[in-house]
Formats: sequence, C-alpha cells, structure tokens
Amino acid sequence: MFFLKSKGFPKDFLWGSASAAYQVEGAYNEDGKGLSNWDKFVRNSNKTYKGTTGDVAVDHYHRYKEDVKLMAEMGLKTYRFSIAWSRIYPEGNKEVNEKGLQFYDNLIDELLKYNIEPMVTTYHWDLPQALVDEYNGWENRKIVDDFVNYTTTIFKRYGDRVKYWITLNEQNIFTTFGWMNGMHPPGKVDDMKMFYQVNHHANIAHAKSVIELKKLYPESMVGASFAYGPSYSINSMPENCMAKADFDDLNNFYWMDVYAYGRYPRSAMAFLEQFDWQPEILDGDEEIMKEAASKVDFMGVNYYQTAVIEYNPMDGVTMSHEMNNTGEKGTQKVEGVPGLFKRLHNEFLETTDWDWTIDPMGLRFACREITSRYDLPIVISENGLGAFDKVEDGKIHDPYRIDYIKKHIEELKKACDDGCRVIAYCTWSYTDLLSWLNGYQKRYGFVYVDRQEEEGSGTLDRIPKDSYYWYKKVIETNGEVL
Ligand code: BG6
Repeated sequence: MFFLKSKGFPKDFLWGSASAAYQVEGAYNEDGKGLSNWDKFVRNSNKTYKGTTGDVAVDHYHRYKEDVKLMAEMGLKTYRFSIAWSRIYPEGNKEVNEKGLQFYDNLIDELLKYNIEPMVTTYHWDLPQALVDEYNGWENRKIVDDFVNYTTTIFKRYGDRVKYWITLNEQNIFTTFGWMNGMHPPGKVDDMKMFYQVNHHANIAHAKSVIELKKLYPESMVGASFAYGPSYSINSMPENCMAKADFDDLNNFYWMDVYAYGRYPRSAMAFLEQFDWQPEILDGDEEIMKEAASKVDFMGVNYYQTAVIEYNPMDGVTMSHEMNNTGEKGTQKVEGVPGLFKRLHNEFLETTDWDWTIDPMGLRFACREITSRYDLPIVISENGLGAFDKVEDGKIHDPYRIDYIKKHIEELKKACDDGCRVIAYCTWSYTDLLSWLNGYQKRYGFVYVDRQEEEGSGTLDRIPKDSYYWYKKVIETNGEVL
C-alpha cells in the first residue's frame, strides 16, 4: 500500500538487540555447567571455520555487567538472550544447578536495573550432551518431557520478571542443518524421516511449554522465532509459481502454520506421505498443538534474506551440503530439491560477503504475509549484517551496517503503516559474537569485541562501533531519525 503520511512506530515499540548463550557466554565448563551438543560438535566435526569454539566466546558470562551498561547507555529497550539448558540442568534432566540459575537471575536483574526489558529464548540450539548420550536428544520423544521440565523451571524462576518469552529459536534451521545437510549437530545428512520426526517432537515441546507458561503467567507474551525467508518466483511461468508455492509449504508454512494454527499444511503432508516421511503423531498431539496455537501471542521472525525460486526437474540440482563460511563472495552453490524447486541468485539484489541476499523490502513482505495469513503481532527477533570490520585508530567505522539496518527499519515502518502489528525489532547482534560455522571474523555487533579465531587471542575489550551511536539516535527518536 502507499500512505500519504507515515504513522511511524508505535509508542511503546521495543527497540532491541539479540544474542545467544553459546555464541557469547563462554565459561563452557564453569560453575557446574554441563557440556552441550555444541561443546562436543565444535571439537569433533571439523565443520567450524578454523575450528573455532564457544569455549570462551566473547566472555559475556564474566562481562555481562559491562555489556548491560553499554546497552543502557545506548538506550536499548529490550535485550533478547538465550538460556543455556546445560547451565540449568547439567545432565539435561536430573539435578538443577543453582549457580546456573543465579547467573540468569543476575543478568535479568542487571537489565531491569536499567529498565531494559529481558526477552528470553529458552532454546537457541545448545542441547545438553547428556541427553544425546542418553537417548539421542531430539530424536526421541522423551525429550518433550525433559524440555518442558527445563522450561517450566525457568518460567517459575524468572516469570515474575520476564514478560517476553521465545520458546525455540529457528527450529527450521537447527533441524535442517542437523538432519538434512549435516552442518550442525548431530551432523546427519538427508535423514528425511528423522528430520520430520524431530520437528514433531520440537513442536510438541514448544506447544506444551507455551501451555505451562500460560498456566503460570497468563499475562506473559510468548512465541517461537522462525527463520523466515519469503520467496519470489523467478518469473510468471506457472511451473515456477507452483515451485514457489511448494517452497512456501515445505520451507515456511510447515513451521509457521504449526505455531499459529496448530496444524501442518495439507499439501506438505500429502507430499511426505508418499515417501513415508510423515512424523508419527500421537493421539492428543493435534489438540495440544491447537491449544498452544490459540495461546501464542506473536510470531517471532528472524529475517535475513529472501529466496528466488525456479522449478527444478527430477534430474536437477540437489542440496550441496556446503556453505560459504569463509566470507569469499560468490562461492555459494545453487541448491535445490529435484522435482520441486531450486534457489537462485536474485539478479536485482546485492549480497553480503557470505552470499546472503540483502533485501530490505523482503522484511516488509515477511510482515505482510504473517499478518494476512495469521493475523498475529510480530516480534522481529533478529535482523542484521555479518561483515568484516576493521579497527582504525581505535574506532570502527561500519557505514555498511548502518545502511543495512536503516533500510530494513524503513521497510519495517512501512509494514507498520500497512497495519502489521510489529511490537519489537531486535538486531543481530548486540556485541560481536561467535558465528556458529563462520568463526569470529563474521561480525554482527554494535559493539566490537577484540578477539580473533584462536582461543586466547585478543583482549576481549569492547569498543562501540559507529552503528552503536547511530542506533542510539534511532531509539531516542523512535525510528524517526534514521
Ligand atoms: C540465525 C541464528 O540463524 O542467524 C543466529 O539465530 C545466527 O544464532 C544468525 O548467528 C546469523 O547466522 P550466521 O551463520 O551468520 O552466524
């Protein structure tokens, strides 16, 4: 739509920034923390850039007060962070670790001291390794009870101070990377049947957690965060438009329909059934999914890029099981599912050095689609630019990041004018952090952290970048001065 005058962002808009435990905390074996699947994977898999680990990460565990102080000086309204399950339950399901609980008590209290709204993700991919050893983690339905036991523990502990909760971060990514392309733990490739089963377990774990939270704190706000990549058909050829519809049903609505409606898209299910890939759905599961969907308050969206889709014949390209994790532009291969679709480069748009398409308007599309299809409020829980940053005379000039975020905020503002109920915008990320497969050189933060790939490198000192000061102004003016 077009509007003669913008209404701007809502009055209480939550300007935020985000992180995840494994990517920032470090202290991987301190104060009783158990090992996570990532602690193990980074050592055994040879998949991370130059073998980087999150053992120390950017040492947020010991420096959280300094980090929060910088947030306060910036005027941040909300900080999204995740809780490491293995800090709370070192073995996943047995004794609770009081020291782990205290760390997040301290972090939450520190945020509240400065009126920063904590937004807590209960699961951002780091699973207690003990549960993998005991029963293969997400592959076993037993995980549902252990997950709900863990989430209920943290809801009870922090629910008096935390209003905004995100159950699962990017279920589509951790399952696709874990069971389809082998790049995340447990590193399995094309295990289609298990991929859909794991997703069903995650859906029930999410749903039961939502229901428990609402019993304890009916006023809380809860949703899952989905890595949403809206799609475009390469052209108006009907085969390509149908390929786009297939892509959406299998890659987007397969998750968002569950969060919002409590059901799987029919066409996706019909497709899976012919190969016997559909998950085992127990009696009562559908009711649980529907009940949770009726209680969900928002759709969490991690937005980075859109996809261009073309029909892919039966003898067409397959998944490459590789990605550009070096930052050498142009090295990402074209991938697809034979008989369905393939993803192409968008000739109208630039990409980052890691070959991620830069498409600010795609964010508006994402909001519009969610609003039309689900009519839910929206939390943009991640959006940002991974780039090489350089320190020059003790400063970091990152006009490319400012430009990226500015253009995305402009589109988000238009989405608000369009009637989309956007309640928060969190950039990825607050400080620089470990980019799972891409090491420390792919930087996202407003705050530079002096560390390189090697453990023990750098002082871990924090330096606000130009984008930090720019975002401070954006917050002060509620998005009017960009
Ligand atoms: C999202 C994740 O997929 O994108 C973050 O939730 C992640 O944890 C971010 O860091 C950027 O991805 P990457 O691969 O560049 O670190």
